[in-house]
Order: sequence, then C-alpha cells, then structure tokens
Amino acid sequence: MYLDSAATAQKPQIVLDALTDYYINQNANVHRGLYQLAFQATEDYEKIRQQVGEFVGVNADNIVFTRGTTEALNLVASSFGPLVVHPDSEILVTAAEHHSNFIPWQQLAKRTGAKFVVVPPDDQGIVTTDAIIDHVTAKTAIVAVAQVTNVTGHVVDVARIGQAVHAKGGYLVVDGAQAVAHMPVDMRQLGADFYAFSGHKIYGPTGIGALVGKKQLLQQMPPIAFGGEMIDMVTEAESTWAPSPLKFEAGTPNIAGVFGLSAAITYLTQSDAEAREQHERALLDQLRTGLQAIPGMTVYGDSEGVSVVSFNLAGVHPHDLATYLDEQSIAVRAGHHCAQPLMTQLNIPATVRASVGLYSNEDDVERLLSAVRAAGRYFNESE
Ligand SMILES: Cc1ncc(COP(=O)(O)O)c(C=O)c1O
Repeated sequence: MYLDSAATAQKPQIVLDALTDYYINQNANVHRGLYQLAFQATEDYEKIRQQVGEFVGVNADNIVFTRGTTEALNLVASSFGPLVVHPDSEILVTAAEHHSNFIPWQQLAKRTGAKFVVVPPDDQGIVTTDAIIDHVTAKTAIVAVAQVTNVTGHVVDVARIGQAVHAKGGYLVVDGAQAVAHMPVDMRQLGADFYAFSGHKIYGPTGIGALVGKKQLLQQMPPIAFGGEMIDMVTEAESTWAPSPLKFEAGTPNIAGVFGLSAAITYLTQSDAEAREQHERALLDQLRTGLQAIPGMTVYGDSEGVSVVSFNLAGVHPHDLATYLDEQSIAVRAGHHCAQPLMTQLNIPATVRASVGLYSNEDDVERLLSAVRAAGRYFNESE
C-alpha cells in the first residue's frame, strides 16, 4: 500500500502508453531532423509546451522544460540570480524549504556576498505567509518559497507574498513541486516571477519538469548549459543563443518525458479539480484525526495542509516506525525529507510522513492508522 505520493506519484496507464507510443511510433530527435518523423516529433513537443503553458495559465514561450523542480530552481539561481543579487542584497527563504529551494539560494548568497535570510518556523513547523512578508525589506532581491511545503503540507498565499516582494522591488521564485498535483495553479493570479514543478509528482515520468518564467526575465537570463539546439550561431570566436526558452534546453531533451508529462496533465485535468481536492482533503482529515487520537502522537503542521501529514510517535524512532510499517507492506517516508534546517528548528532528527494521491482511499488510511496504533503498542510495551 503506497502512501508516499509526495515523494513520487504512481503512474496511470495513460502515461505509460504515452511513453511507449513515443518510442514505438514517433522516436526522433527534436529541432534538428529534416525528415517527416522528426518534424512530427518537434511539432508535438512544441504543442506540449503550449499544453503545459495552458495548464498553469501562461504562453508556451514562458515554459522551459527541465529535469524537474530542482533543475528549474538551480537554473533561476545560477542564471537570474547574479543579474539582480548584489553584495548588499538579501535573499529570503524559509526554514521549511526543501533543500532544492534552499541550497541554490544559500550558495548564490555565498557567491555574491548577499545576506541569506531564513524565516524561522513556529513550533508546528509552519512558516506563515505573514512571517515571510514581515521579513521582506527594501534590500530583498529574491524571495524563494514553496507554495506547499513537503514536510507539513502548509500552503502559503503566493499572491500576497508576490505583492509584498514586488512592492519592495524584489522577485518571487516559487517551488511548486508539492502544489501542482493538489490545486489549480494559475500564474496570472499568483503573480510569481518564476514557478518550478516536477512531472513525476503529478503522475508523470521522472526526469521531466518545467520552469515557468516571465518572458522578459527569461529573455534577459544567460544560458548556463551549452550545446545542441540552444544556439543561434557558433564561430571560433563567439557564439550566440537561440531565443528563450530553447536557449535553456541544451542537448537532446527528455523527449519521451515531455510526451509523458503531456499525458499526466491530461490525466490530472480530465477530472474535476474541486472533486480531486475534496477527495484528498477527506483522506487527510481522516488521517490527521486518527493520528491525533493515538497516545504519544505528535502531528506537525496544521489542518489546512495539503497532500502530506508528518508525525512522530513518542518513544519510537521514525525509521523504526517506517520499517515496522514496511513489514506490513505500507510504504511511508521517514527521514528529514530533504528539509534538514526544519528538522534542526524543530529539534528532531526526522519525522514519518504519509502522503496521499488520487488513487488513495479510506481503507489505505485506516490500514495505516491501525498499523501505527499496533506499532505504538509493540514498541512501547516491549520496552
Ligand atoms: C517541496 C519540494 N521541492 C522540491 C523538490 C524536488 O523535486 P525534484 O526532486 O523532482 O526535483 C521536492 C521533492 O520532493 C519537494 O517536495
């Protein structure tokens, strides 16, 4: 039984079919071949860029295909960062960020001499929208936050943070890795300058994702990887670049992944967003309430969180609990969840994290709850 969809979602048949169909019927490189098969692959690849754009409320040329969220965030930090961050700037993140949205900014601060400001969490592991806004100053060049954090599932108000950051002349980068599968994302409403997400967390394949960026910013940014169809002209003396977004897609891209991502978006959007949210909300409420009733239980985050619930059982190391659950074929995640600064702030080594997807159901949650209750008895009574 799989309750680790926040790490990566299981893939529906439509995604698997799209991958095999591409390899069986359409396999050709994109943007280079002068034959029918290559033209078709290129046309479809670019149509999918448009589909991804529509999915998040932007045009095709706002979409850069990347390997996933991590690569997208690193691209912004490495390429855009140095354009706007100076030694007297501040870069603002929260202590609840995934390392993928923490380390690139920490390293950018080190390279530029900027101040790295980390907004601390409350004792539930939450960094509120207000706390983030309170830390924005006239020196804030970049704010980088997760719309939904991967340890507590806390949701921040991106639009409000965007207004505060823009009012002070800064830029907002949003890590959407845990958001896109669970809520509609419309860049026109969010107003973020950049938004990153991964295909594999929205039922698509691994190794594909997107950076969504404002066109004028993408145009200013230099490429950070070179080769393949990202060029305009290359001479011995100089090279020039293709327009954005192609200038950021060096080498042969993950073409099959793009086709799989398209199928994943079709899968996700063919059901009603509100019904999806209600289904997951009901499961998370059942999970939270059930866990809170277990003696010695600490549940992190708040009841508004989406997609994940993190918890710890007194007297039981999270790894032992996850191993006990695994012995009953229940897959949950235990560890620091690539959020060590948050673990440090909460003064814990790790948590157990259960997360749901569209295919999860009440029986899954009930089985987890009864196994956690049994684990509590097993570990605490055998001491
Ligand atoms: C909040 C958050 N940000 C970033 C990432 C990194 O995503 P990826 O490994 O797909 O690049 C994850 C993955 O768990 C995540 O949960």
